[in-house]
Amino acid sequence: MRTVTVGLLGCGTVGQDVLNLIERRSGIFADLGVKIEVAGVLVRDAEKARRIPAGIPLTTDPNFLQECGVVIEAMGGIERPLALLRPSLRSGRAVITANKALLAECWEELRDYALDGKLYYEASVMAGTPVIGPMSTVLRASTFTRLQAVLNGTCLYILTQMEGGKSYEAALAEAQALGYAEDPPTLDVGGFDTAHKLTVLARFCADGNFKYSSVEVQGIEGVTLADVQAARARGERIKLVAELDRVNGEWRGRVSPQSLPDTHPLCNAGASRNAMVYEGEECGTLIFAGGGAGGMVTASAMVGDLLDWVIGFPGHVPLH
Ligand code: NAP
Ligand code: HSE
Repeated sequence: MRTVTVGLLGCGTVGQDVLNLIERRSGIFADLGVKIEVAGVLVRDAEKARRIPAGIPLTTDPNFLQECGVVIEAMGGIERPLALLRPSLRSGRAVITANKALLAECWEELRDYALDGKLYYEASVMAGTPVIGPMSTVLRASTFTRLQAVLNGTCLYILTQMEGGKSYEAALAEAQALGYAEDPPTLDVGGFDTAHKLTVLARFCADGNFKYSSVEVQGIEGVTLADVQAARARGERIKLVAELDRVNGEWRGRVSPQSLPDTHPLCNAGASRNAMVYEGEECGTLIFAGGGAGGMVTASAMVGDLLDWVIGFPGHVPLH
């Protein structure tokens, strides 16, 4: 049995379930001849109570990263995780991350590692609903034309709750309590998290160097209860929609609240499901839908990435 030494950055909503799922899947790793050993888990407060398997070493000292064959990042932020991951990446080791802000905003530094197949990031968009996998592999054979998507679980939750009459503030507080929201939640409600995710997707289907700064962003802060309920009365729903299409020969990324008919695939995917309508000339119209936020659904993609790495599959390679 080969021992694989894993380091984890962060042990919050996502990190805890990554540890729980690694333990739950130990049989699959054993079938592959691998024993996963968690060398360390970096946190801010090592004394805080966590729901994780016994014996996991929590620490505020990142030195354990030096001995890890693969690092899983579930910490959030940009500068701090980048500084912590840099030595692993520079020494050719693999990194698994759910951090779309880092991917979207630090692409100049990360792109070459992604092109080398060292970066695994299925969880960064639509959490456990696999869209990056197909977009980085089989969908390449088809000419991409357009996508439209609901990519933020927090905004989806808030707008759905407002349909039932709840205030924006109360719904946001609930989304935070459920562990869906970013820190700070402005990233969600301002549309920036959706723009990060759209940027990550665009690099698989439009332009391998697609820039986050090129996305036009409008959030849901200005959407009122009256707007949401007037839409319902018309047989429509307000969603925060990400769009990528070509205008005058240039790729255009946009995030904005839109009122869509109930019959639209982004509405009838289910009240709590992220969704993406992907259009390609040869593949036709494809619809992906599923959970897009939450601990275990995100962990499912990250542990899936870890399995891919153990098997020897490369990470998610963007367009060259
Ligand atoms: P979270 O619950 O706030 O957890 C963050 C963890 O990172 C905490 O354990 C925290 O330690 C630790 N941490 C933060 N800053 C640190 C620092 N400077 N030094 C050491 N440890 C630090 O966040 P989360 O919801 O799990 O999200 C983590 C990442 O996953 C983010 O990039 C997020 O965008 C992404 N993501 C989240 C979801 C979701 O549904 N939550 C889904 C997909 C992707 P303490 O616990 O000691 O404070
Ligand atoms: N804050 C994000 C959301 C987490 O609400 O969708 C999942 O990426």
